[in-house]
Amino acid sequence: MKKKKVAFYTLGCKVNFCETEALQTLFEKAGYSVTDFDRPADVYVINTCTVTGISDHKSRKAIRRARRRAPGAIIVATGCYAQGFPDEVEAMEQVDLVVGTHGRENLPQLVAELEQDRSPRQLVRPYGDSCTFEMLPPGRRRGRTRGFLKIQEGCNQGCTYCIVPAVRGPLRSLPPEEAVARAQAMVESGYREIVLTGIHLGLYGAELEGVTLAVLLEELERIPGLLRLRLSSIEPSDITGELVERIIASEKICPHLHIPLQSGDGEILSMMNRPYTPEEYLYLVRWLRSMKSDLAISTDVMVGFPGEREENHRRSLAFVRSVNFSRLHVFAYSPRPGTPAAEFPGQVERAVKERRSREMIELGKKMAASFRRKFIGSRQEVLIEKVSGQDSQFFGEGFTPHYLRTRVSLDGRGRGWTGKAVEVIIEGEEGEFLRGVPLRQT
Ligand code: F3S
Repeated sequence: MKKKKVAFYTLGCKVNFCETEALQTLFEKAGYSVTDFDRPADVYVINTCTVTGISDHKSRKAIRRARRRAPGAIIVATGCYAQGFPDEVEAMEQVDLVVGTHGRENLPQLVAELEQDRSPRQLVRPYGDSCTFEMLPPGRRRGRTRGFLKIQEGCNQGCTYCIVPAVRGPLRSLPPEEAVARAQAMVESGYREIVLTGIHLGLYGAELEGVTLAVLLEELERIPGLLRLRLSSIEPSDITGELVERIIASEKICPHLHIPLQSGDGEILSMMNRPYTPEEYLYLVRWLRSMKSDLAISTDVMVGFPGEREENHRRSLAFVRSVNFSRLHVFAYSPRPGTPAAEFPGQVERAVKERRSREMIELGKKMAASFRRKFIGSRQEVLIEKVSGQDSQFFGEGFTPHYLRTRVSLDGRGRGWTGKAVEVIIEGEEGEFLRGVPLRQT
């Protein structure tokens, strides 16, 4: 019998992408074959995001696109936008099934029921305090070198701009034995770098006895064949002495931390309900650098938060410049229904937000270039993720431990280089890449 086909479309962050991979496995186990979103399929699953108004818009657009592609297919909307605004999603005539960000373990069965009875369903469950970690199977493995492992879910921080706690529920963690088993399986299937991810990653283990992120990292480091571990993001308040000691002692944990700042202005941070001041953030950065001077520190910065006057923005720019980040992700504030900041006075005009974004992005580019250039002339390890070229001239692309994208000229073995760690001398840069020449392969 011909296999049924399912296609996926994912919006949003790495957590969503991890979950899509897990849902793919779920459908494969139920006898489906996975196809591209642009091809005909029996079922389309759109894993939505709601972090900004644009994310909602893009989620709706993907749903409509799926319906246009296959008028008779079953369209499933899942993820954060579906969890946050189930009625809005259900009202779309293109949608057959709405499920949120949990309770998806039996999604293929729900689809099978819909095939018998095509009346649209909205099965989004609100979060309760007792909700547990959604045990989807490990994601599909596609012979990549760097893979994401979701180990934590939920957030209770209460930043005034953020809708994520409302759509991701309370804190919960993947049990450590399961996290180790999943990481082991990833390594056995070819992954050499694992990026640990979660909604509030630093609070991994908060609801478990005697488990912290540092403890889990120590366990994961013992996995033979695993070359690198990386943290996707960590809140300033979660960087403990225990964690820093672990990072410093480790040969596998990458010297790169993504520590969300959001604003470099104290007044705005306080209105955002972020639990630190710029001075405390700077103190943390100095402490980290005093122990690991070459540590790459990247961050997220938001511009145009309600009440942000020009002087707040200038102070934020000056603070960001003084920290000297290795990379900057810039976001313009977007009011999210149901969050306190959406009701704050002093909403900033779109044109002003756009101009402030441009200024922050420009600063980010300069800082990234200056951080990158410090490595010219040094010896680095690049984990090759992608190879291009032909005949005897091949180029590999990958990252250094400090998360610097590097292009490496390789010999005639071509694609055999994928997944290899190559020792290189950094000779210069090519646009936003570093350029490396191999010394030896590890
Ligand atoms: Fe979007 Fe949900 Fe991630 S809102 S950014 S997909 S946690």
